[in-house]
Amino acid sequence: MSQQEDRLKTLIGHAKEYGFVFPSSEIYDGLSATYDYGPYGVELKNNIRQYWWAAMVRLNEEIVGIDSAIFMHPTTWKASGHVDAFNDPLIDNKDSKKRYRADVLLEDHIAKYEQKIAKEVEKGRRKFGEAFDEAQFLATNPNVKRSQDRIDAVEARMKEALDANDLAAVRQLILDEGITCPVSGTANWTEVRQFNLMFATELGSVSGESSTIYLRPETAQGIFVNFLNVQKSARMKLPFGIAQTGKAFRNEIVARQFIFRMREFEQLEMQYFVKPGTEMEWYARWKEKRMAWHRALGLPVESYRFHDHIKLAHYANAACDIEFQFPMGFKELEGIHSRTDFDLANHERFSGKKLQFFDPETNESYVPYVVETSIGLDRMFLAILSAAHQVEELEDGSTREVLRIPAPLAPVKLAVLPLVKKDGLPEKAREIIDGLKLDHNCQYDEKDSIGRRYRRQDAIGTPYCITVDHETLKDGTVTIRDRDTMAQERVAIAELPRIVSEKVHMHRLLRQL
Ligand code: GAP
Repeated sequence: MSQQEDRLKTLIGHAKEYGFVFPSSEIYDGLSATYDYGPYGVELKNNIRQYWWAAMVRLNEEIVGIDSAIFMHPTTWKASGHVDAFNDPLIDNKDSKKRYRADVLLEDHIAKYEQKIAKEVEKGRRKFGEAFDEAQFLATNPNVKRSQDRIDAVEARMKEALDANDLAAVRQLILDEGITCPVSGTANWTEVRQFNLMFATELGSVSGESSTIYLRPETAQGIFVNFLNVQKSARMKLPFGIAQTGKAFRNEIVARQFIFRMREFEQLEMQYFVKPGTEMEWYARWKEKRMAWHRALGLPVESYRFHDHIKLAHYANAACDIEFQFPMGFKELEGIHSRTDFDLANHERFSGKKLQFFDPETNESYVPYVVETSIGLDRMFLAILSAAHQVEELEDGSTREVLRIPAPLAPVKLAVLPLVKKDGLPEKAREIIDGLKLDHNCQYDEKDSIGRRYRRQDAIGTPYCITVDHETLKDGTVTIRDRDTMAQERVAIAELPRIVSEKVHMHRLLRQL
């Protein structure tokens, strides 16, 4: 098993054992690419959603929220282009019978050249030490240049083939690059075929009539069709945004890698409506703002990078991803897209209703352009979990498993632990929880030795453990233990609300934006 697979497996095991993520309907052997969130998982997920909502809706007076239905009129998906163009190019290996996304095979192939470049850079850094100039090295090293030329050539052919929807050319590129199936090791490939990703179902039939409707593959369309309702009812002027969080569904053929690619997942989306011609400014602005949102969490800066799309989606005139270094390598975490007036103009055309903004400054009506930010909540959850999970060697030779989740997002903010289960310590501990639980998610634990209780809290990422002992009853003080440093300090109970809030309050993140 590769190191990457090993890390992902450890993470999946930890997530299950400690109540973050379970395979869905596990007693029936699970349902592929579908997962359930457990007691700590749901808290973390809620906290990420809340952080996103506060950053988008509360901090930006020109952004408002909605919550639209999952089911939408079927024409929505004709107008949005999803019925005709929401496809993945699939290819099968005839020997292993495994199915792959052809574009993903090519992207993974490109990633191998990128890894070669990274290795050369590492070698150069070791060789030249302080004097190492990375930019110059990248521009002049012959091995790097050779790999970069290969990347450019593959990307150019891939873009041309995908843009022209030339599936034979996509297959030929896979053959020319000698890409083989990771399972069978052969290049015995089928033709490439397009496969639509929407789940279809029947709307309840009235007197024998029925019609096909789809589970929404993105939440964005609920925003577009409500554009005028929101603009008029909330009296919004351009530029303004509409935010929404909710479930989306895609019949992913190659669904693996835990909660990274699921068939049912949650999106956090915001459509920003702007005057045509200004969209590139807003696109650049939202790239910056979204990266700042990620950076405020304090995860390693080098775990993030921008990646411009090689093939633009059917609706975009510019698009990029914020990629994150997951256990499986750098992968898309969030998309930022300049969607032009594609969606609103098409909904106008298909519905026959005007979806325009009357600009009082210029006295004209027009269909606004849209810049969209779209992040998968489950992917963000995986990003945080994978960055947070650490196994540490302690001075006494033992190890501890700790989740260094950014404190404001931690599922449980503090645990209150009576040293013994008698002498009035449990009652005192519960009294302390009563004083804090209106503001924070607290946990009470009296079982096992104090050391084991600390370990349990480390494993679910609780930033603070508060221990109540006999001294507490005498002088009203407790010890407070920090998850990250394991340092303990004796403080007055009256000080707890201030100390805890300083570290765990969502303000800590929002103030940085
Ligand atoms: N409205 C635009 C849109 O849906 P997308 O790039 O297809 O764009 C946006 O999806 C985000 O949704 C992705 O960056 C990813 O985080 C998340 N996402 C997409 N498909 C997913 C899946 N099958 N499982 C989990 N998350 C997914």
